[in-house]
Amino acid sequence: MAKIKTKYVCQQCGYETARYMGKCPECGMWDTFVEETVVKENSNITNKTILEDTNPPILIKDVKIGEEIRVSTNISEFDRVLGGGLVQGSLVLLAGDPGIGKSTLLLQTSGELSGLGKKILYVSAEESASQVKLRSDRLDVNTDNLYIYPQTNFELIKKHIFEQNPDIVIVDSIQAIYSNDIQSSAGSVSQIRECCNSLMHIAKQKNITMIVIGHVTKEGNIAGPKVLEHMVDTVIQFEGDKYKSYRILRAAKNRFGNTSEVGIFEMGTKGLKEVINPSELFIKEYTQSQSTGSTIIVTNEGTRPMLVEVQALVGTTPYPSPRRVTNGVDISRVLQILAVLEKRVGLNLSKQDVYVNVIGGIDIEEPAADLGIALAVATCARDVMIDSHTAIVGEIGLSGEIRAVNNIERRIKEVQKLGFKKIIIPASNNFEEKFDNIEIVKVKKIIDAISACINNKE
Ligand SMILES: Nc1ncnc2c1ncn2[C@@H]1O[C@H](COP(=O)(O)OP(=O)(O)OP(=O)(O)O)[C@@H](O)[C@H]1O
Ligand SMILES: [Mg+2]
Ligand SMILES: [Zn+2]
Repeated sequence: MAKIKTKYVCQQCGYETARYMGKCPECGMWDTFVEETVVKENSNITNKTILEDTNPPILIKDVKIGEEIRVSTNISEFDRVLGGGLVQGSLVLLAGDPGIGKSTLLLQTSGELSGLGKKILYVSAEESASQVKLRSDRLDVNTDNLYIYPQTNFELIKKHIFEQNPDIVIVDSIQAIYSNDIQSSAGSVSQIRECCNSLMHIAKQKNITMIVIGHVTKEGNIAGPKVLEHMVDTVIQFEGDKYKSYRILRAAKNRFGNTSEVGIFEMGTKGLKEVINPSELFIKEYTQSQSTGSTIIVTNEGTRPMLVEVQALVGTTPYPSPRRVTNGVDISRVLQILAVLEKRVGLNLSKQDVYVNVIGGIDIEEPAADLGIALAVATCARDVMIDSHTAIVGEIGLSGEIRAVNNIERRIKEVQKLGFKKIIIPASNNFEEKFDNIEIVKVKKIIDAISACINNKE
């Protein structure tokens, strides 16, 4: 006999409790508990586990390293984010906003992989086979090894995975499938957790690579429990500006690679196209028309330097206390830069609103962007133009000193490649390489950087 149990589960973080609570003690959210029914089989777990026990404890020095088999997706931007390709037998969670292009990316990936002779089972839990077919026609995906399976029932999906024995399984999406073992509706925390856990087991047991799509909530979290992120091997986030055509792929977690790499795509009628040289994309409009308060910085995304435009707008405030608004950079970082500008450069911003915006919807986290932000604000406040074709890189310390940044040679090379004539870098950054056709200006203080970036002849 099955034993029926109910519990209250926080839909935000997966915290479980026996009775209803208004506020979740785990994640602090209000009104997130939903009653879920669980049917537990009274199976003898101990016996089952012993039967499957094929991996007894082993001395670490005796462990033989099996070859970590990576399969290239044939899409280099995707491979880069995965850390060099899909690891066989791993489970990747692809998360992103509605309509960002998750199904498109995975259908294109399926096309590439099946072209390489891999057998793919594409479980389409949200769309019918004909809807997927329409998309695949538009994307020119047509191969012999790609099976579409419109199904939401987990047990049936499992049956077909075992019958077909594919190399790769794609589940679109984890929120849309449900298991008969769990009474709550598809998309609830218990369902998501159970289905994901079972998929993980199948992946390891049968050495099948799985890519699972997950939706993102309004707050930008992966819908469902945080535990989902702990469970899977890799979490890839697909981001982008709804109003722009480019999309950014980034790893939030990766058991088989680093998480600093990003992949950049452009969405078009024929699907996603890789952007091989992102700098060109982000500074296209800058080179066409430049105005005060805009600078080009060189940021490092993983191992790849990228030129990005940062804009500042400074103006007298109509409010009692001035506003500080940032987009694409951390506000506390900007507040610190403003404080340094006031104290060390003597720029009075106490009656000025300051807006800082990174063009292209990308987020910059590294402090190497400090100097660029500071110069954008300072030159806008003083209404002067930064010399065009000048790029800026450097971290700012509290005493107004410019601190060294990593990978300086690679950054200079990128700037040079894009035809810039000048780069302003920290004085403490030393390097061996010689660069032609580019003026490298080393600065110690913000104040030096300001005079270095303004062309007095103009
Ligand atoms: N005919 C078309 N031409 C150009 N772009 C299109 C066309 N059809 C769809 N798109 C693009 O594809 C996007 C939808 O892609 P896709 O269905 O892969 O997204 P998704 O992330 O899977 O969405 P969902 O969350 O609804 O499953 C649209 O937002 C649009 O940008
Ligand atoms: Mg979709
Ligand atoms: Zn919670």
